[in-house]
Amino acid sequence: MQIVSVMVVLLRKREQHEIIKKNMRKIFRIPLTKWLLLFTLISHPGISFAQSAMTNVNARNRISLNGKWQVIIDPTGIGDWRQVWLEKKPVNKTDFVEYSFEGGPSLNVPGDFNTQRCELTSMEGTVWYKKSINYTLKSNKRVFIHFGAVNYLADVYFNGKQIGSHEGGFTPFQFEITDIIKNGENTLIVKANNQRLKDGLPGLGYDWFNYGGITRDVNLIETENTYIENYCIQLMKHDNEKVLGWINLNGNNQSQSIEVKIPELKLNYKTKSNADGLAEVRFTSKFALWSPENPKLYKVIIQSETDTVVDEIGFRNIEVRGNKVFLNNKPVFLKGVNIHEENPLKAAKAYSEEDALLLLNWAKEMDCNMIRLAHYPHNEYMVRLAEKMGLMVWSELPVYQHIEFSAPGVPEKMDLMMKEMIRRDRNRCGIIIWSLSNETYSFTPNRDKALIELTKQCRSLDSTRLITSVINNQGYENNTFNVWDTLYNYVDLISLNEYIGWYVPWQGKPADTKWKLVCKDKPVFISEFGGEALYGSNYGPKDEAAWWSEEYQEQIYKDQTILFTTIPNLCGVCPWLLVDYRSPGRMHPVYQNGWNRKGLISDKGEKKKAWYVMKQYYEKIKNE
Ligand code: GCU
Repeated sequence: MQIVSVMVVLLRKREQHEIIKKNMRKIFRIPLTKWLLLFTLISHPGISFAQSAMTNVNARNRISLNGKWQVIIDPTGIGDWRQVWLEKKPVNKTDFVEYSFEGGPSLNVPGDFNTQRCELTSMEGTVWYKKSINYTLKSNKRVFIHFGAVNYLADVYFNGKQIGSHEGGFTPFQFEITDIIKNGENTLIVKANNQRLKDGLPGLGYDWFNYGGITRDVNLIETENTYIENYCIQLMKHDNEKVLGWINLNGNNQSQSIEVKIPELKLNYKTKSNADGLAEVRFTSKFALWSPENPKLYKVIIQSETDTVVDEIGFRNIEVRGNKVFLNNKPVFLKGVNIHEENPLKAAKAYSEEDALLLLNWAKEMDCNMIRLAHYPHNEYMVRLAEKMGLMVWSELPVYQHIEFSAPGVPEKMDLMMKEMIRRDRNRCGIIIWSLSNETYSFTPNRDKALIELTKQCRSLDSTRLITSVINNQGYENNTFNVWDTLYNYVDLISLNEYIGWYVPWQGKPADTKWKLVCKDKPVFISEFGGEALYGSNYGPKDEAAWWSEEYQEQIYKDQTILFTTIPNLCGVCPWLLVDYRSPGRMHPVYQNGWNRKGLISDKGEKKKAWYVMKQYYEKIKNE
């Protein structure tokens, strides 16, 4: 008996030991980030994840926090352990504190940190930002801190307390500070970390510069106790007169009378919000519809009993009918160009209206009527200005190439980022397409399931726009493209990237190219094509290297415009890309030097030979 029971106990112990070992292994498999999160959650009880941001921030009662911010550069990330946000000060003579914002450098906000100080040039890590805010408390007001974007992870502290965090470098977020802001001096500290994450969006590898920091505007916003948080004022799908939307109030006085006014149309629509603060909007009017030829925007006033928001909104209908794209009941050919959020003349992240104007003027000059904002939501100035200039906009999520679709939390991150993207720009009629991914591969575990689910979510959130995902895994044999992907069954447009003439040699005359399409009834959009050229490098019969020369790039474009004549259901094309841009992986010391040279314009704003091929091609295409 004795022996048996000892054995049992030992067995049980071994079992227990095995179980513990198994669990320990499980625990140790939990990624470090989760541990850090856990540690942060435990050490900062009550921190919250960022709130969904109110929309149309620039029309709110706001104090800009842009300008110089003091910083602590923290390459090792030790600032967490030192609890930098507590801003400890030496008390006794012998005390010492190994960090301080005082006496340290400062950086401009908005702006990436990499191009502001040489020691930050290739920084992928943590920079702590501090802003002092002198504030006078007002009764019956709520106060928020709103960020246009922080790349990539942001931990935000107010008056020494962590108020929350946000993941994702390209969408807005906010925190309410009504209960913690005080009269006089307040301190806002932001830990911005642009380290790449394996389970991030994007993941570890991408072909653009990883600009870090507080890259877009920061505002302190005052609202009434109940304010108009968000709204949707857009035409119903397939209808050029019926508006179907909603208005969402946030606060304790949820049931209110609300008016939507469009003075120019003498329209004054009255509605009521329910106990959840939600009001339906449903009215009809004769609009001058927004189009590239006539980018008409109306002043729209949304007025509740406690708040008023004014916006500029256009009304248009975009839909697919058969294998064509229709804008306001007319077939439209999308004359696109890809653009990264970078000002090449500054070799820095773009964030301002001026930066947007530079890029969009070049696109207009090339006779584009559409722009693809690659590969992440760009700043709001870019979207609003494009709309004003009559450029249709494609907005995209950074679900780019190698994404860990099966990693815990990744589908949720994709969903949240999509919601943030749609929420900010839902009322921008210029945006006609939501793109949910670029060059992901169907063999990646969980990719199809995650992206199909995301596409369904997107459609339920916004049925008024087209939805797509960009593919580049088409077959190309015997001068024949074989275009297939599971996702094509769920999207409105077949969007594909092809680099024939650059990464892939031609297999025959462009004019003889054949196409096999899995979905024969959907419009096809060439979302990327092109090749590299260093401006000024020319190639004549004597020269040995054709590559990198303007003539070689020009020839690719000439051949591609012939290829386009062979594509069934072609609804548009989009060269990769408007202007050379920075990408550290492009390392040829003479021709690239850290720049992707596929631009049609050089980083100095010089037009390459291929630019003129594209401009001519677009000028020949007349949309009615
Ligand atoms: C890809 C990708 C781009 C990239 C381009 C290139 O298709 O989508 O992000 O920059 O090719 O190779 O230049």
